[in-house]
Amino acid sequence: MKIDLKKLVEAASKARTGSVSPYSKFKVGAALLTQAGEIIGGANVESASYGLTCCAERIALFKALTDGHTNFIAMAVVARWDGGPMPCGACRQLLAEYAPDAKVLVADSKDLKTVRAFTVRGLLPRAFRLAS
Ligand code: THU
Repeated sequence: MKIDLKKLVEAASKARTGSVSPYSKFKVGAALLTQAGEIIGGANVESASYGLTCCAERIALFKALTDGHTNFIAMAVVARWDGGPMPCGACRQLLAEYAPDAKVLVADSKDLKTVRAFTVRGLLPRAFRLAS
């Protein structure tokens, strides 16, 4: 399936509007694309107990997984960050487990047309696994 970069990045940007980030004020949006062409969005949610905060990438992934989606081919991540925000290590681990073949597209919310593309494998080589 051909990835419509623009559509996926725009979905991540739209999902970003749902960010609940009263502490950092750093809004992040993510959107996953399935092989079936479905797009599932998510945004970061913060807690007053800071360590409980959950990143946009994991919210999108958890939403998608618990709604029964599988076979993820790409994820877009958008935030106001020069060159686009890079997923944190925890999100890379979850992506390596549930979306190992996916591409990761990042874009600055100020410039959605400039997209940098990575692979999950490239972002977390030799990821920890318990199952093959
Ligand atoms: N954040 C994400 O949503 N994704 C990342 O990959 C890194 C950080 C969020 C968590 C927190 O709400 C805010 O950005 C500042 O760290």
